[in-house]
Amino acid sequence: MHILYDQPAEHYSTFRLKNRLATVIEVSCIDDLAKLNTSNVPQVLGEGSNTIFLEAQSRPLVRYTGSNITEHWTTEDNCLFHIEAGHNWHKLVTTVVNRELWGIENLALIPGSVGAAPVQNIGAYGVEFADVCAYVDYYDWSTRSLQRLTVADCKFGYRDSVFKHEFAGKGIIVAVGIKLSKVAKPVLSYQGLDTLPVTSSVSDIYQQVIATRNSKLPDYRQLANCGSFFKNPVLSSADFELLQLSYPAMPGYRQDDHQVKVPAAWLIDQQGFKGYQINDIGCYPKQPLVLVNYGEGCAADLLQLITQIQTKVWTAYQITLEPEVRLLKGNGQQYV
Ligand code: EPU
Repeated sequence: MHILYDQPAEHYSTFRLKNRLATVIEVSCIDDLAKLNTSNVPQVLGEGSNTIFLEAQSRPLVRYTGSNITEHWTTEDNCLFHIEAGHNWHKLVTTVVNRELWGIENLALIPGSVGAAPVQNIGAYGVEFADVCAYVDYYDWSTRSLQRLTVADCKFGYRDSVFKHEFAGKGIIVAVGIKLSKVAKPVLSYQGLDTLPVTSSVSDIYQQVIATRNSKLPDYRQLANCGSFFKNPVLSSADFELLQLSYPAMPGYRQDDHQVKVPAAWLIDQQGFKGYQINDIGCYPKQPLVLVNYGEGCAADLLQLITQIQTKVWTAYQITLEPEVRLLKGNGQQYV
Protein backbone atom coordinates (compact mmCIF):
# COMPACT_ATOMS: atom_id res chain seq x y z
CA MET A 1 0.00 0.00 0.00
CA HIS A 2 1.17 3.47 -0.90
CA ILE A 3 -0.24 6.60 0.74
CA LEU A 4 0.37 9.98 -0.89
CA TYR A 5 -0.57 13.30 0.70
CA ASP A 6 -1.47 16.73 -0.71
CA GLN A 7 -1.42 15.73 -4.35
CA PRO A 8 -2.09 18.01 -7.35
CA ALA A 9 -5.56 17.09 -8.69
CA GLU A 10 -4.43 17.77 -12.27
CA HIS A 11 -2.29 14.61 -12.10
CA TYR A 12 -5.37 12.52 -11.27
CA SER A 13 -8.02 13.86 -13.68
CA THR A 14 -7.71 14.24 -17.45
CA PHE A 15 -9.75 17.48 -17.21
CA ARG A 16 -6.90 18.94 -15.12
CA LEU A 17 -8.69 21.55 -12.97
CA LYS A 18 -6.11 22.81 -10.49
CA ASN A 19 -6.96 21.71 -6.94
CA ARG A 20 -5.39 19.63 -4.17
CA LEU A 21 -6.21 16.10 -3.06
CA ALA A 22 -5.59 15.53 0.66
CA THR A 23 -4.89 11.77 0.43
CA VAL A 24 -4.47 9.29 -2.39
CA ILE A 25 -4.15 5.64 -1.33
CA GLU A 26 -2.83 3.14 -3.86
CA VAL A 27 -3.67 -0.48 -3.15
CA SER A 28 -2.46 -3.36 -5.28
CA CYS A 29 -4.09 -6.46 -3.77
CA ILE A 30 -6.95 -7.70 -1.62
CA ASP A 31 -4.70 -7.88 1.46
CA ASP A 32 -4.10 -4.12 1.14
CA LEU A 33 -7.85 -3.54 1.02
CA ALA A 34 -8.33 -5.61 4.15
CA LYS A 35 -5.79 -3.39 5.98
CA LEU A 36 -7.35 -0.11 4.83
CA ASN A 37 -8.92 2.12 7.46
CA THR A 38 -12.37 2.85 6.06
CA SER A 39 -13.78 4.89 8.96
CA ASN A 40 -13.62 7.86 6.55
CA VAL A 41 -15.03 5.94 3.55
CA PRO A 42 -12.74 6.55 0.58
CA GLN A 43 -13.85 7.69 -2.86
CA VAL A 44 -12.71 5.33 -5.62
CA LEU A 45 -10.69 6.65 -8.54
CA GLY A 46 -9.36 4.95 -11.68
CA GLU A 47 -7.25 6.92 -14.15
CA GLY A 48 -9.43 10.03 -13.76
CA SER A 49 -10.68 10.11 -17.35
CA ASN A 50 -14.29 10.55 -16.24
CA THR A 51 -13.83 12.44 -12.96
CA ILE A 52 -13.51 16.18 -12.38
CA PHE A 53 -12.47 17.60 -9.01
CA LEU A 54 -14.49 20.81 -8.66
CA GLU A 55 -12.90 21.56 -5.28
CA ALA A 56 -9.95 20.45 -3.15
CA GLN A 57 -10.73 16.95 -1.86
CA SER A 58 -10.72 16.31 1.88
CA ARG A 59 -12.07 12.77 1.51
CA PRO A 60 -9.37 10.15 0.79
CA LEU A 61 -9.22 8.70 -2.71
CA VAL A 62 -8.33 5.08 -3.31
CA ARG A 63 -6.96 3.53 -6.49
CA TYR A 64 -6.56 -0.16 -7.19
CA THR A 65 -3.29 -0.55 -9.08
CA GLY A 66 -3.06 -4.36 -9.46
CA SER A 67 -3.11 -5.03 -13.21
CA ASN A 68 -2.57 -8.73 -13.90
CA ILE A 69 -4.31 -10.55 -16.74
CA THR A 70 -5.03 -14.27 -16.52
CA GLU A 71 -6.57 -16.46 -19.17
CA HIS A 72 -9.09 -18.56 -17.23
CA TRP A 73 -10.45 -20.98 -19.75
CA THR A 74 -10.62 -21.45 -23.47
CA THR A 75 -12.88 -23.49 -25.74
CA GLU A 76 -12.90 -23.88 -29.49
CA ASP A 77 -14.93 -20.67 -29.88
CA ASN A 78 -14.44 -18.56 -26.77
CA CYS A 79 -12.08 -17.65 -23.99
CA LEU A 80 -12.39 -15.93 -20.66
CA PHE A 81 -9.92 -13.42 -19.29
CA HIS A 82 -9.68 -12.26 -15.70
CA ILE A 83 -8.21 -8.74 -15.55
CA GLU A 84 -7.36 -6.75 -12.44
CA ALA A 85 -8.94 -3.29 -12.16
CA GLY A 86 -5.71 -1.28 -12.49
CA HIS A 87 -4.99 -2.48 -16.04
CA ASN A 88 -5.31 0.22 -18.71
CA TRP A 89 -8.40 -0.39 -20.87
CA HIS A 90 -6.85 0.42 -24.27
CA LYS A 91 -3.81 -1.73 -23.45
CA LEU A 92 -6.17 -4.64 -22.82
CA VAL A 93 -7.95 -4.02 -26.14
CA THR A 94 -4.61 -3.97 -27.96
CA THR A 95 -3.47 -7.22 -26.30
CA VAL A 96 -6.59 -9.16 -27.25
CA VAL A 97 -6.79 -7.71 -30.78
CA ASN A 98 -3.18 -8.83 -31.33
CA ARG A 99 -4.34 -12.32 -30.36
CA GLU A 100 -7.17 -12.03 -32.92
CA LEU A 101 -9.90 -12.25 -30.30
CA TRP A 102 -13.22 -10.53 -30.96
CA GLY A 103 -15.48 -8.50 -28.69
CA ILE A 104 -13.86 -5.23 -27.61
CA GLU A 105 -12.19 -3.94 -30.80
CA ASN A 106 -14.91 -1.23 -31.13
CA LEU A 107 -13.91 -0.02 -27.66
CA ALA A 108 -10.33 0.83 -28.67
CA LEU A 109 -8.79 4.07 -27.40
CA ILE A 110 -11.36 4.65 -24.65
CA PRO A 111 -9.29 6.26 -21.91
CA GLY A 112 -9.30 4.86 -18.39
CA SER A 113 -8.82 1.70 -16.39
CA VAL A 114 -10.44 -1.72 -16.63
CA GLY A 115 -11.98 -1.20 -13.18
CA ALA A 116 -13.83 1.90 -14.38
CA ALA A 117 -15.30 0.15 -17.43
CA PRO A 118 -18.28 -1.47 -15.62
CA VAL A 119 -19.14 1.64 -13.60
CA GLN A 120 -20.44 3.62 -16.54
CA ASN A 121 -20.71 0.60 -18.85
CA ILE A 122 -18.33 2.18 -21.37
CA GLY A 123 -19.55 2.05 -24.94
CA ALA A 124 -18.69 3.13 -28.46
CA TYR A 125 -19.54 2.23 -32.06
CA GLY A 126 -22.41 -0.10 -31.20
CA VAL A 127 -20.65 -2.14 -28.49
CA GLU A 128 -20.65 -1.73 -24.72
CA PHE A 129 -18.80 -3.36 -21.83
CA ALA A 130 -21.95 -5.30 -20.82
CA ASP A 131 -21.77 -7.23 -24.13
CA VAL A 132 -18.56 -9.02 -23.07
CA CYS A 133 -18.81 -8.93 -19.29
CA ALA A 134 -18.80 -12.34 -17.58
CA TYR A 135 -18.54 -11.03 -13.98
CA VAL A 136 -17.25 -8.20 -11.82
CA ASP A 137 -15.30 -8.83 -8.59
CA TYR A 138 -16.28 -6.28 -5.98
CA TYR A 139 -14.80 -5.68 -2.54
CA ASP A 140 -17.35 -4.38 -0.05
CA TRP A 141 -16.03 -1.94 2.59
CA SER A 142 -18.58 -2.84 5.27
CA THR A 143 -18.40 -6.65 5.06
CA ARG A 144 -14.67 -6.62 4.17
CA SER A 145 -15.34 -9.35 1.68
CA LEU A 146 -15.04 -10.00 -2.02
CA GLN A 147 -18.11 -10.90 -4.03
CA ARG A 148 -18.44 -12.00 -7.63
CA LEU A 149 -21.29 -10.15 -9.34
CA THR A 150 -23.04 -11.60 -12.37
CA VAL A 151 -23.99 -9.46 -15.36
CA ALA A 152 -27.57 -9.37 -14.05
CA ASP A 153 -26.32 -8.15 -10.62
CA CYS A 154 -24.52 -5.28 -12.36
CA LYS A 155 -27.81 -3.88 -13.81
CA PHE A 156 -26.06 -2.42 -16.83
CA GLY A 157 -27.82 0.29 -18.82
CA TYR A 158 -26.77 3.07 -21.18
CA ARG A 159 -23.72 4.55 -19.39
CA ASP A 160 -25.19 3.13 -16.20
CA SER A 161 -24.81 0.30 -13.68
CA VAL A 162 -25.45 -0.70 -10.07
CA PHE A 163 -22.08 0.90 -9.20
CA LYS A 164 -23.59 4.36 -9.81
CA HIS A 165 -26.61 3.65 -7.61
CA GLU A 166 -27.05 0.99 -4.87
CA PHE A 167 -23.30 0.27 -4.70
CA ALA A 168 -22.09 3.87 -5.01
CA GLY A 169 -19.51 4.53 -2.28
CA LYS A 170 -19.94 1.03 -0.80
CA GLY A 171 -16.83 -0.67 -2.16
CA ILE A 172 -14.32 -1.03 -4.98
CA ILE A 173 -14.11 -3.05 -8.19
CA VAL A 174 -10.95 -5.18 -8.10
CA ALA A 175 -11.24 -7.27 -11.27
CA VAL A 176 -13.50 -8.13 -14.18
CA GLY A 177 -14.03 -11.24 -16.27
CA ILE A 178 -14.62 -10.83 -19.97
CA LYS A 179 -15.66 -13.40 -22.52
CA LEU A 180 -14.17 -12.99 -26.00
CA SER A 181 -14.77 -14.84 -29.23
CA LYS A 182 -12.27 -16.68 -31.42
CA VAL A 183 -14.86 -16.57 -34.18
CA ALA A 184 -15.28 -13.36 -36.21
CA LYS A 185 -18.11 -11.18 -34.84
CA PRO A 186 -17.80 -7.79 -36.54
CA VAL A 187 -20.13 -4.99 -35.40
CA LEU A 188 -20.01 -2.50 -38.26
CA SER A 189 -23.41 -0.82 -38.06
CA TYR A 190 -22.23 2.47 -36.55
CA GLN A 191 -21.49 5.48 -38.73
CA GLY A 192 -17.73 5.52 -39.34
CA LEU A 193 -17.42 1.72 -39.43
CA ASP A 194 -20.24 1.05 -41.91
CA THR A 195 -17.92 1.50 -44.90
CA LEU A 196 -15.73 -1.44 -43.81
CA PRO A 197 -16.27 -4.79 -45.58
CA VAL A 198 -17.86 -7.58 -43.53
CA THR A 199 -14.70 -9.60 -44.10
CA SER A 200 -12.65 -7.03 -42.13
CA SER A 201 -10.22 -8.48 -39.62
CA VAL A 202 -10.43 -7.59 -35.95
CA SER A 203 -7.31 -5.52 -36.42
CA ASP A 204 -8.84 -3.57 -39.38
CA ILE A 205 -11.80 -2.62 -37.18
CA TYR A 206 -9.53 -1.67 -34.29
CA GLN A 207 -7.48 0.58 -36.62
CA GLN A 208 -10.61 2.20 -38.06
CA VAL A 209 -12.01 2.93 -34.58
CA ILE A 210 -8.70 4.55 -33.63
CA ALA A 211 -8.66 6.64 -36.82
CA THR A 212 -12.31 7.74 -36.34
CA ARG A 213 -11.80 8.66 -32.69
CA ASN A 214 -8.60 10.55 -33.47
CA SER A 215 -10.37 12.56 -36.18
CA LYS A 216 -13.23 13.65 -33.85
CA LEU A 217 -12.09 13.56 -30.27
CA PRO A 218 -9.26 15.52 -28.64
CA ASP A 219 -6.38 13.56 -27.09
CA TYR A 220 -6.55 14.37 -23.38
CA ARG A 221 -2.75 14.42 -23.20
CA GLN A 222 -2.71 17.43 -25.53
CA LEU A 223 -6.02 19.07 -24.60
CA ALA A 224 -7.57 18.31 -21.21
CA ASN A 225 -11.03 16.70 -21.47
CA CYS A 226 -13.16 13.84 -20.12
CA GLY A 227 -14.74 12.64 -23.39
CA SER A 228 -18.49 13.07 -23.83
CA PHE A 229 -19.61 15.43 -21.10
CA PHE A 230 -23.36 14.70 -21.20
CA LYS A 231 -25.29 11.50 -21.86
CA ASN A 232 -27.32 11.31 -25.04
CA PRO A 233 -30.90 11.87 -23.84
CA VAL A 234 -33.35 9.03 -24.37
CA LEU A 235 -36.93 10.12 -25.17
CA SER A 236 -40.17 8.26 -25.64
CA SER A 237 -41.05 7.77 -29.32
CA ALA A 238 -44.10 10.02 -28.80
CA ASP A 239 -42.04 12.92 -27.39
CA PHE A 240 -39.47 12.51 -30.14
CA GLU A 241 -42.10 12.57 -32.91
CA LEU A 242 -43.66 15.68 -31.40
CA LEU A 243 -40.28 17.44 -31.36
CA GLN A 244 -39.60 16.40 -34.93
CA LEU A 245 -42.70 18.36 -36.02
CA SER A 246 -40.89 21.54 -34.96
CA TYR A 247 -37.35 20.29 -35.73
CA PRO A 248 -37.58 17.93 -38.73
CA ALA A 249 -33.78 17.64 -38.95
CA MET A 250 -33.43 16.35 -35.36
CA PRO A 251 -31.61 12.98 -35.55
CA GLY A 252 -32.75 10.10 -33.40
CA TYR A 253 -31.68 6.48 -32.99
CA ARG A 254 -34.48 4.03 -32.19
CA GLN A 255 -33.81 1.77 -29.18
CA ASP A 256 -35.34 -1.65 -28.58
CA ASP A 257 -37.96 -0.39 -26.14
CA HIS A 258 -40.03 2.30 -27.99
CA GLN A 259 -37.50 4.91 -27.06
CA VAL A 260 -35.30 7.17 -29.16
CA LYS A 261 -31.77 8.30 -28.33
CA VAL A 262 -31.08 11.85 -29.49
CA PRO A 263 -27.45 12.95 -29.96
CA ALA A 264 -26.65 15.55 -27.31
CA ALA A 265 -23.94 16.80 -29.70
CA TRP A 266 -26.66 17.84 -32.18
CA LEU A 267 -28.72 19.66 -29.54
CA ILE A 268 -25.64 21.53 -28.28
CA ASP A 269 -24.39 22.23 -31.82
CA GLN A 270 -27.81 23.68 -32.85
CA GLN A 271 -27.67 26.05 -29.90
CA GLY A 272 -24.45 27.52 -31.28
CA PHE A 273 -21.97 26.19 -28.72
CA LYS A 274 -19.42 24.65 -31.11
CA GLY A 275 -16.10 26.32 -30.26
CA TYR A 276 -17.80 28.50 -27.61
CA GLN A 277 -15.61 29.37 -24.61
CA ILE A 278 -15.89 30.86 -21.16
CA ASN A 279 -12.29 31.83 -20.48
CA ASP A 280 -10.30 28.56 -20.69
CA ILE A 281 -13.29 26.18 -20.64
CA GLY A 282 -14.99 25.47 -23.95
CA CYS A 283 -16.93 23.18 -26.27
CA TYR A 284 -14.55 21.32 -28.56
CA PRO A 285 -15.05 22.72 -32.09
CA LYS A 286 -15.12 19.29 -33.81
CA GLN A 287 -17.42 17.62 -31.24
CA PRO A 288 -19.30 20.05 -28.98
CA LEU A 289 -20.38 17.25 -26.61
CA VAL A 290 -16.78 17.21 -25.41
CA LEU A 291 -15.96 20.03 -23.00
CA VAL A 292 -12.29 20.98 -22.87
CA ASN A 293 -9.92 22.83 -20.58
CA TYR A 294 -7.46 24.94 -22.55
CA GLY A 295 -5.10 25.14 -19.57
CA GLU A 296 -6.16 27.50 -16.80
CA GLY A 297 -9.83 26.50 -16.66
CA CYS A 298 -11.57 26.76 -13.28
CA ALA A 299 -14.61 25.09 -11.74
CA ALA A 300 -16.70 28.30 -11.76
CA ASP A 301 -16.30 28.66 -15.55
CA LEU A 302 -17.05 24.98 -16.09
CA LEU A 303 -20.22 25.15 -13.96
CA GLN A 304 -21.28 28.29 -15.83
CA LEU A 305 -20.82 26.58 -19.19
CA ILE A 306 -22.75 23.50 -18.02
CA THR A 307 -25.63 25.72 -16.86
CA GLN A 308 -25.66 27.72 -20.09
CA ILE A 309 -25.78 24.56 -22.22
CA GLN A 310 -28.45 22.88 -20.08
CA THR A 311 -30.59 26.04 -19.99
CA LYS A 312 -30.46 26.67 -23.74
CA VAL A 313 -31.18 23.03 -24.60
CA TRP A 314 -34.05 22.92 -22.10
CA THR A 315 -35.54 26.19 -23.36
CA ALA A 316 -35.41 25.05 -27.00
CA TYR A 317 -36.45 21.39 -26.65
CA GLN A 318 -37.57 20.77 -23.02
CA ILE A 319 -34.85 18.12 -22.84
CA THR A 320 -32.67 17.75 -19.73
CA LEU A 321 -29.01 17.06 -20.41
CA GLU A 322 -27.46 14.95 -17.65
CA PRO A 323 -23.71 15.01 -17.11
CA GLU A 324 -22.02 11.71 -17.95
CA VAL A 325 -18.82 12.81 -16.22
CA ARG A 326 -18.50 12.47 -12.43
CA LEU A 327 -18.21 15.96 -10.85
CA LEU A 328 -16.92 15.84 -7.27
CA LYS A 329 -17.37 18.43 -4.55
CA GLY A 330 -14.76 18.87 -1.79
CA ASN A 331 -16.24 16.20 0.49
CA GLY A 332 -16.16 13.66 -2.33
CA GLN A 333 -19.92 13.87 -2.85
CA GLN A 334 -21.23 14.19 -6.36
CA TYR A 335 -22.33 17.60 -7.64
CA VAL A 336 -25.62 17.17 -9.46
N1 EPU B 1 -23.31 15.77 -34.14
C1 EPU B 1 -23.59 17.09 -34.44
N2 EPU B 1 -22.55 17.98 -34.44
C2 EPU B 1 -21.26 17.60 -34.17
C3 EPU B 1 -20.98 16.25 -33.87
C4 EPU B 1 -22.03 15.36 -33.85
O1 EPU B 1 -24.72 17.47 -34.71
O2 EPU B 1 -20.39 18.46 -34.21
C5 EPU B 1 -24.43 14.81 -34.12
C6 EPU B 1 -24.57 14.10 -35.46
O3 EPU B 1 -25.95 13.92 -35.71
C7 EPU B 1 -23.90 12.77 -35.20
C8 EPU B 1 -24.32 12.54 -33.76
O4 EPU B 1 -24.23 13.83 -33.14
O5 EPU B 1 -24.37 11.78 -36.05
C9 EPU B 1 -23.54 11.50 -33.01
O6 EPU B 1 -22.17 11.91 -32.93
P1 EPU B 1 -21.01 10.85 -32.65
O7 EPU B 1 -21.08 9.73 -33.60
O8 EPU B 1 -19.73 11.62 -32.54
O9 EPU B 1 -21.38 10.20 -31.26
P2 EPU B 1 -21.95 10.76 -29.90
O10 EPU B 1 -23.35 10.27 -29.73
O11 EPU B 1 -21.75 12.24 -29.76
C10 EPU B 1 -21.30 8.65 -28.51
C11 EPU B 1 -20.62 8.37 -27.20
C12 EPU B 1 -19.11 8.45 -27.38
C13 EPU B 1 -18.69 7.42 -28.43
C14 EPU B 1 -19.42 7.73 -29.75
C15 EPU B 1 -19.14 6.69 -30.80
C16 EPU B 1 -22.17 9.10 -25.47
C17 EPU B 1 -22.48 10.14 -24.43
N3 EPU B 1 -21.09 9.33 -26.20
O12 EPU B 1 -21.02 10.00 -28.84
O13 EPU B 1 -18.51 8.09 -26.15
O14 EPU B 1 -17.29 7.45 -28.64
O15 EPU B 1 -20.85 7.75 -29.51
O16 EPU B 1 -19.77 5.52 -30.47
O17 EPU B 1 -22.89 8.11 -25.58
C18 EPU B 1 -17.64 8.99 -24.11
O18 EPU B 1 -18.53 8.35 -23.54
O19 EPU B 1 -16.82 9.69 -23.48
C19 EPU B 1 -17.59 8.94 -25.56
C20 EPU B 1 -16.70 9.66 -26.25
